[in-house]
Order: sequence, then structure tokens, then C-alpha cells
Amino acid sequence: MKKLYIETLGCAMNLLDSEHMIAELREKENFSLTDDVKEADLILINTCSVREKPERKLFSEIGQFSKIKKEGAKIGVCGCSASHMGEEILKRAKSVSFVLGARNTSKITKIIHQDRAVEIDTSFDDSTYMFARDSQNNLKKMINISIGCDKSCTYCIVPYTRGEEISIPKNLILDEAKRARDLGAKEILLLGQNVNNYGRRFSDGSRGENFTALLRDISEIDGVERIRFVSPHPLHMDDEFIDEFAKNKKVCKFIHIPLQSGSNKILGMMKRGYSKEWFLDRVERIRERAEDVAFGTDIIVGFPGESEEDFEESMDVLERVRFEQLFSFVYSPRPHTGAINLKDIEIDSQIAKARLERLQNRHKEILDEISLKELGKIHEVYFESIDEEGYLEGRSDTNKNIKAKGSRDLVGEIESVKIVKTSRVKLFGEIV
Ligand code: 5AD
Ligand code: SF4
Repeated sequence: MKKLYIETLGCAMNLLDSEHMIAELREKENFSLTDDVKEADLILINTCSVREKPERKLFSEIGQFSKIKKEGAKIGVCGCSASHMGEEILKRAKSVSFVLGARNTSKITKIIHQDRAVEIDTSFDDSTYMFARDSQNNLKKMINISIGCDKSCTYCIVPYTRGEEISIPKNLILDEAKRARDLGAKEILLLGQNVNNYGRRFSDGSRGENFTALLRDISEIDGVERIRFVSPHPLHMDDEFIDEFAKNKKVCKFIHIPLQSGSNKILGMMKRGYSKEWFLDRVERIRERAEDVAFGTDIIVGFPGESEEDFEESMDVLERVRFEQLFSFVYSPRPHTGAINLKDIEIDSQIAKARLERLQNRHKEILDEISLKELGKIHEVYFESIDEEGYLEGRSDTNKNIKAKGSRDLVGEIESVKIVKTSRVKLFGEIV
């Protein structure tokens, strides 16, 4: 058996691409995974290009791997940075054997046999490709429902690295969900750049599907108990979708809605297509219809032209929605994006950093306030693991991380847990 070492950066989409590559290589090329890079025959770096800093590290990392790798071992650069740097990676790093772009994952078993090859075609369509299956984590299953992205948010490189948006046919998604259920998965995580834009375009030209109907159909599969999804776009959160989200018991009541900014001026410059008022209205509608629901979001600070007042608008949305999960970033200029032309109104990096710190500090306080109120509450927890001390760990329907003492046979089960102790990131409870 040959050994594969793989490093995955970036989002859930990249994690799933890695999962697909591992499964393909395991099934068709007789590879098994190793976490020791020195014994690997193949080293894959699945890169993210959404911000500049991790991307800069790529070449030093390739350098390190090439020093310690086994004689004859190959290094492949995959993912989003591979898509937009392509040939340049081969030029700058002599030890790299191949470059495989984010939209070309299904070519992995071919490209490993080529030397100095580049496959980065962003119009390549593998939306109907059936990847081999890796059954590493049987309790939860990520399923792609679309590839690519049709938006043109001015800060974002993803449409350039992943190409136009194509939905995956519904029958393939349902088959995948049933297969995951048969292997023991009670939870399905649907993935797409804008999941609620599902059905706009299929590669065979058909239309007429939408995300709400997809959610409904998956929820009718016996044995699938929980459905999550990332990320919906605020613009496409119509009433029909919100009503289904609220009333469908299998759809988990945690929703990640990327805000990006609370300022209408900045949202316009980002070409997000919605206003602060629309965003808040959607949150309000969800809260009115679903009993207990938690929100997550992404916020960028220091976008070019962001004034103190604009930043205050983001703080205001944080205050009103009280997000339970926040991914926040300083704006990072990226090639092939609209905002790269806004160099002359870029924000001083110290100011941007100070804003990020303020946002994150206030968010921590909000988390503390929220977690204190959890004492005594009962959550349904899907247990995923157990540690040596006998603590089971899992997530509530609302995505809270919860631990409770219990027996090993409860891994893979959903149990009611009463919260007896809280902290900012974890809750502790007793099975009731
Ligand atoms: N700079 C900073 N953050 C970015 N994101 C996307 N592009 C950039 C950028 N150029 C953030 C967005 C997105 C998340 C995945 O990364 O908030 O939702
Ligand atoms: Fe994911 Fe975007 Fe990073 Fe690509 S660039 S890995 S799509 S976060």
C-alpha cells in the first residue's frame, strides 16, 4: 500500500474535496492515509486563497516538505490557490509534481501519474461525477449540492477559483444521503457557496428545483435525523425558505448567514445585493417562526472606504442579532476581484486590526452572556465521540458544543441533556 499525506486549509468545501480525493486514491490507487509526511509517497496540499496570508505560506511549506520527503515522493498542490496560480506554482517550486485546481478534484487519480502537469480548468463540470466514498466519519456526512459560485462579491476570489455555479442533480444528492444513512449517519451537512440558490442551473440545462424542496425531500428519508447547510446567501432567503427552515423538525435550528458588513454603503461596494434592513428583517422572520434558533455569521472589517460609522453599523448588527458563532476577518486584497481597484481608499491596517479586536471582544462578551442563560436548559445532543474519562461530546440542534458523562454505546445516538455547567465555548450537562 502507498501512503498519502494530505493537508487541508480553508472551508468545509475544501474539507469535502479532500475527503473525495482520499476516497478516490484509496479505492482506485491503493493509498492509505498517514499523518507522517516523511513516510508519504504522495503529499497533497489542499489550499485556500480567500485571504493572502495563508497563501503566502504555501511556498515555505512546499520547501519544508521537499526537504523531509521520501526519495521519489510526489508533491501535489490542489484547491483554490492551485486554481488561480496554476503554472506559476510549478515555476516557483521545482519540487511540485502537479497542480490540481479546486474544480478538478475528480482528476486526482489521473494527475498523480503525470509529471509537472497543471489541471485548473474552471469550466470543468464534475457536478454529476460519483466520487468514491470514504467512510471515515460515519456519523455525519457532508454532501455537495452545487459547485462554483455565480456571485461577484468584490472582495472574493472564489468565483475565479471555482468557476460558475452548477447544481448537482437532486437524485444524486438523495442517493448520497441514503447511502450515508445506511452507513450510520444521522446528520447530513449540505454544502455550496450559496446553498439557497440551488436549482438555478444544472449541467443538462434543466430547471425548476429549489433549495426549499431539496430540504423537504431529504427530510423525508427515514433515518436522516438532522440536516444542516452552509451557507445560505441573505439575498435568497425568501419567505418560503424561512418557513420551511422554521417548521421542518429535521432541519437544525442553527443558521449561518454571512453578513460581511452592516453598512449599506459598504454592502453596496461589496455588491452583496441586500441591505442591513433586509438582513435584520430575515433574522426577525426566522425568530418569529422558530422557537429556539441560533445564528452564525461572517464579518469583514476594514473593507476599502469603511468609515468609523460604517464599522459601527456592523457592531450594531452584532448587538441586535447576538450571533453565537462569528468568523471575522480583516479585509485582504485579492487578485481577480473587483475591490482590487480600490487601493487608494484602502484602510490603514492598524485601524482595521483595532476594529477587528473591538468586534471580537464584544462578541466574546455576548457569548458569555448567552452561555450563562443556558444553565438548566435541555438540549437534544447528537454524540460523536467519547474521551478517556467517559465524557461524551456532541452538538445540540442549535450547534452548541456539549459534553456529558455516559457510556460508549451512546456514541451515534441523540440524547436529551440538561445543562449543569457553562463556559464560553462548551456546555456540560447530564443525560436526562
Ligand atoms: N478578505 C477578508 N475576508 C474574506 N472573505 C472572503 N474574501 C475575503 C477577503 N478578500 C471572508 C468572507 C467569507 C469567508 C469565507 O471569508 O467573510 O464569507
Ligand atoms: Fe473555500 Fe473560498 Fe478558501 Fe476556496 S477560497 S477553500 S472556496 S474559503
